[in-house]
Amino acid sequence: MSVATSLDAVLSRVDESLPEALERLMALLRIPSISTDPAFKADCARAADWLVADLQSLGFEASARPTPGHPMVVAQGGEGGPHLLFYGHYDVQPVDPLSLWDRDPFDPELQDTPKGRVIRARGASDDKGQLMTFLEALRAWKSVHGRLPCRLTIFLEGEEESGSPSLIPFLEANTEELKADIALICDTGLFQDTAPAIVTMLRGLLGEEMTIRAANKDLHSGMYGGAAQNPIRVLSRILANMHDATGRITIPQFYDGVSELPDAIRAQWQALAFDHATFLGDVGLSVPAGEQDRTPLEMIWSRPTAEINGIWGGYTGDGFKTVLPAEAHAKVSFRLVGQQDPDAIRVQFRKWVEAQLPADCTIEWKGHGNSPAGVMEIDNPAFEAARAALGEEWGRAAAYVGCGGSIPIAGYFKTYLGMDAMLLGFGRDDDQIHSPNEKYDLECFHKGIRSWARLLAKLA
Ligand code: BES
Ligand code: ZN
Repeated sequence: MSVATSLDAVLSRVDESLPEALERLMALLRIPSISTDPAFKADCARAADWLVADLQSLGFEASARPTPGHPMVVAQGGEGGPHLLFYGHYDVQPVDPLSLWDRDPFDPELQDTPKGRVIRARGASDDKGQLMTFLEALRAWKSVHGRLPCRLTIFLEGEEESGSPSLIPFLEANTEELKADIALICDTGLFQDTAPAIVTMLRGLLGEEMTIRAANKDLHSGMYGGAAQNPIRVLSRILANMHDATGRITIPQFYDGVSELPDAIRAQWQALAFDHATFLGDVGLSVPAGEQDRTPLEMIWSRPTAEINGIWGGYTGDGFKTVLPAEAHAKVSFRLVGQQDPDAIRVQFRKWVEAQLPADCTIEWKGHGNSPAGVMEIDNPAFEAARAALGEEWGRAAAYVGCGGSIPIAGYFKTYLGMDAMLLGFGRDDDQIHSPNEKYDLECFHKGIRSWARLLAKLA
């Protein structure tokens, strides 16, 4: 078979076998692999085992490797051509608030919506549907050619959504087995829903949890109010001080390591003609809320943030209670860019908060994950191959874009394994990842599989 006819055969196989591919994805989506909640530990192991079996059915030598957290799935298969590593994550975010879901998040369903058919379930887009696009492309390839396209390592993590705590030790302990010519990561999205995109910059993340305590017990707010310190008041005042009136973050040395966008990238982004009015309008907003001297695209792709993700304390139940609480809590996270150092920012942030604590208040800290920002090098020829493959499938040129989210491993491939990584994916902005009613468009799943088949044909 010529290269072109053999690709056509694989693409036709993808089209014909879409119903079975969807069944396999649905089976994976039924497993509630929420990595951050210990109650779902066994389910995470079950998802890993499901993937091991799926990979074995493709001819891979596959196993679930234990870690102090959730297992890593590693599989080796195929031979010849470039050695490709594929990365995805099988863990998902918690589902709460469950009351905002239209159905059980782990009872996936194909639904018709005004914008097309969607697969509705937690993890449909992030990242089970996405990782299955690659495995299904391999399945179609194998069924046409009787073998895998080239030498492949598949590496699927179960802790991405909880900051990847076991990842660095695992990479260090398995360097030889994991090192390949390039890593392919499928955990990002399209640009503005229709244009294929390759992510070249993504932000890092640092998480902090704090508890401020004052009196040694909850108090009556009439009996003590006025005289007694209120930790919620203290907490909210400090958190409100994180930004000045122009949206700039006030923590000392926070901007160390943040540089201006190189002109070449600024020009590329300008050419994308990002429609920020629609981007915000789709979620009921109209005014960009970040640093006022920045464009919205810079705000989400190349500037750091400080966000309050959760804040609680006192009485929040039905009705009313005149309590003066003894404690106040918050979870805060920072998105990081450039050379910002997560450890240094943790130290600076804690020092800055503690300097503002009034008399009688104490603070307790709990650190959450931290990963630096990632910048991908695009001189590996696989990037041009991917742009061509994506352009052919989607009928539009692939764009080099930034990503406001974080995927800790993206930078680690270079740091720990010395290999380039290429991030591409098929999610859409309205997939509601991390939110109720997550979905993945059937079109994205289908064309995602076809995109990988086209790329494999170019690389293999
Ligand atoms: N797939 C996302 C990253 C992403 C977000 C890509 C938005 C494209 C658009 C990833 O799984 C994720 O959500 N990562 C977490 C990382 C964290 C919990 C360490 C994130 O960015 O919040
Ligand atoms: Zn993800």
